[in-house]
Amino acid sequence: MSIITNITRMWLTRTIKPFTFNNEYDEILNYDNCENLGLYVHIPFCTSICNFCPYCKTLYLKERCNNYIDSLLDEINLVGSMSKNKKTVTSLYFGGGTPVLAIRRLKEIITVIKKYFIITDGIGIELHPNNVNVKILKILKNAGVTKISIGIQSFQKKYQDILGRKRINIHALSNALNKIKFQTVSMDFIFALPNQQYDDLKNDIEIAFSHGANHIAIYPFIDFTFTSSKVSAVKKRKKRKLLDKITNYCLNMGYSRNSIWTFSTEKGVDYSSMTRDNFIGFGCSAATLLNDSFKINTFSVDAYCDRVKNNKIPTSLTIRFTERQRMIYYLFWAFYSTKVDSRDFESFFGVPLNKMYGNELKLANLLGLVKEEKGVYTLTLKGAFYYHYYENFYTLSYIDKMWSIMRKEDFPSKIKLK
Ligand SMILES: C[S@@+](CC[C@H](N)C(=O)[O-])C[C@H]1O[C@@H](n2cnc3c(N)ncnc32)[C@H](O)[C@@H]1O
Ligand code: SF4
Repeated sequence: MSIITNITRMWLTRTIKPFTFNNEYDEILNYDNCENLGLYVHIPFCTSICNFCPYCKTLYLKERCNNYIDSLLDEINLVGSMSKNKKTVTSLYFGGGTPVLAIRRLKEIITVIKKYFIITDGIGIELHPNNVNVKILKILKNAGVTKISIGIQSFQKKYQDILGRKRINIHALSNALNKIKFQTVSMDFIFALPNQQYDDLKNDIEIAFSHGANHIAIYPFIDFTFTSSKVSAVKKRKKRKLLDKITNYCLNMGYSRNSIWTFSTEKGVDYSSMTRDNFIGFGCSAATLLNDSFKINTFSVDAYCDRVKNNKIPTSLTIRFTERQRMIYYLFWAFYSTKVDSRDFESFFGVPLNKMYGNELKLANLLGLVKEEKGVYTLTLKGAFYYHYYENFYTLSYIDKMWSIMRKEDFPSKIKLK
């Protein structure tokens, strides 16, 4: 597996140097000159832990959660006061964990963020299906939330059992969504589960769009080494067939493909915290990317609170990207949205895309992975599948390795990703 990422990395970054993260950090974050900046806030508490979930999370305890939110506000104040002026950002996303467990303090967090940042494209939050009721949705709406994303995983009993998730009351969910409206109502599904058929997935998507969703995300199941899930992986050919059929179904229904995993009923309906040129992440495990510096906060709730209490940024690891590494990172996330516009690349890096990756794009075109029209490269159906396929290697070789170390060590001295 790592042979594939190793060769691809060396080829595309034109160096044998691995991605090296060190235990060092900037005491001052300079984001004044960062364009297209997004914000992310991580709230790591859940009332029960799902065995397949790789994210940084811990069981909810009221006092622990309150202490954590106090530190979160301190971190926002610390980072926010590093800029002289109020900074304009695109969006603010809350993820977790189950952020709604801190709902009584959500408005407080948003108010502190708004002291330093002007949010232009709305506020999003991840919800567990248990959180979707009129009372909670009203509080979210009053706090300024405009986009919600609900972790459905599957509406079907057999897959809920495989994933250890409880039944979902579809009518209660739909009634609540009917009463309190949001600009984006997204529902998450996991696909490529054992014996999952096209009809299973299609039914789930039909239920989603007819019960209040205007956006869906279908994530391929990833078997992280450090989770205790017993779900076995589905073979490549089966996965491809399922993905192609479900993509064609969504396109035939007139849904727009906004990214490799997401479809919406209308263009402009979106839910994505990742596809930003720059972003600042607050909270444990949150990542920050400012120009060529990428940093990740410690995964430990206690170490996070201690560090912030001492007026220090809770960074655990930092990588300073080389120009080519930054370009690959950029292209990876741009292709995630299924399209790369060579004009955007050039205005971001000050150098033509063709000069840097002209041969690779020609090859991708010859192999039928991308199509080019007026300087815009779009992934074909085959390209989208291989993106999925490669993303799986990348996740298992990079994210899995990094997160498995960071779950155990608060401040690792170095991590090399090959
Ligand atoms: C932070 S979680 C969801 C929010 C909420 N806590 C919940 O459980 O509904 C974000 C999403 O990641 C996806 N996810 C989690 N573990 C995954 C895995 N092993 N493979 C693929 N997708 C996964 C799920 O679809 C999940 O809804
Ligand atoms: S899937 Fe959601 S509820 Fe389950 S452990 Fe992960 S974050 Fe918590």
